Amino acid sequence: MATRIRYAEIVDRGVRICFGSDERLVDLPSRWLRDHGDDEASTDPRTPQRKTATVATTADVEPLELAFGDGRLHLAWSDGATTEHDAALLADRIEDRRGPRPERDDLVIDFDPDLELWAGPEGPFAPLDGGAVDEAEGLAELLGQLHRRGWVVVDGVGEGAEALTDLTNRIGYVRHTIFGGVWELKADADEHLDSAYDTTELGVHTDSTYSHDAPGVQVFCCQERNGTGGDSVLVDGFAAARDLASAQPRLADCLTRFDFVGRYIEPGVHLQAERPPFRLDGSGRLLQVSFNNYDRAPMLPVDEWVETVIEAYGAFNELVSDPSRQINLGWKPGRVMIIDNWRVLHGRTAFTGARRFLGCYLNHEDLESALRVNGITKR
Ligand SMILES: [Fe+2]
Repeated sequence: MATRIRYAEIVDRGVRICFGSDERLVDLPSRWLRDHGDDEASTDPRTPQRKTATVATTADVEPLELAFGDGRLHLAWSDGATTEHDAALLADRIEDRRGPRPERDDLVIDFDPDLELWAGPEGPFAPLDGGAVDEAEGLAELLGQLHRRGWVVVDGVGEGAEALTDLTNRIGYVRHTIFGGVWELKADADEHLDSAYDTTELGVHTDSTYSHDAPGVQVFCCQERNGTGGDSVLVDGFAAARDLASAQPRLADCLTRFDFVGRYIEPGVHLQAERPPFRLDGSGRLLQVSFNNYDRAPMLPVDEWVETVIEAYGAFNELVSDPSRQINLGWKPGRVMIIDNWRVLHGRTAFTGARRFLGCYLNHEDLESALRVNGITKR
């Protein structure tokens, strides 16, 4: 039987709600509710990925009208939007309220000094040549760029899966996931429902927040491209973390201590994992940034943390979505882009025409191994 909302009213900065035979009145904050609609404008009913980045834009939003019935809560908002909320899902979130990890004394987010943190393009980028990276010197240059700035581009790689794996095997073996080993990416929503497989703009994100051990390296190799748009968009998540820590340390601290849940759902698959957006090692050095608004599952923090968690996630979203921090990268057949998926977020501009890639994932420990073996790092 559907969970029933017995009572609900608009209160200061939120909605007061009571379920079924429960006597408890629970106040849900406005910003959290605005960010957790499960209506079709907010959430893709098939996947169910988020369709909007409401966490970044709703600081002062308030509900103006409220209705409930049929196990759903309906809200009309001061920003003109309407949202709906399944009562059972709301009740589940309330039962599963999340608290932070313990506070650490004198936390300072630290960075590997070899890294070159960047915000926006420094000048025209120079792709490496596919032939040159077959040699030890070319491979060292590729690994060095990938280590220092988190991405590298190689031109003139042949078409087909074999040409791609000839290159990637020099870093590490291809990791198998639900997408296979080497996968094809094109505008084809019938094959995978995921937002990456359509033609609209795709906001920057890291892949596999739903995986406990997200792939450390992502590789795309362009097989076919004509039409307009469709650039890849890159942004340095480490630089954005550094800047958030310097401007708003309270919010950066929250992102080191609060686990966010990522999920991936399609027929026969329900992957889910959780970790803080900024994962540190024991000494406070940033190891991994995880950020994917599309795959962010509903999660309700305990009362005293709700506003901070939303504010922190929204502030980081705002930073990484700032075009002045981003690099746009055009495509042509034979071009390969290799990204450190634990550091650099990627997205895509909207496009027309044909856009087809082969891609694969590698493990981060295999990249780290290649960096040591080729004399790039010692740690
Ligand atoms: Fe992606």
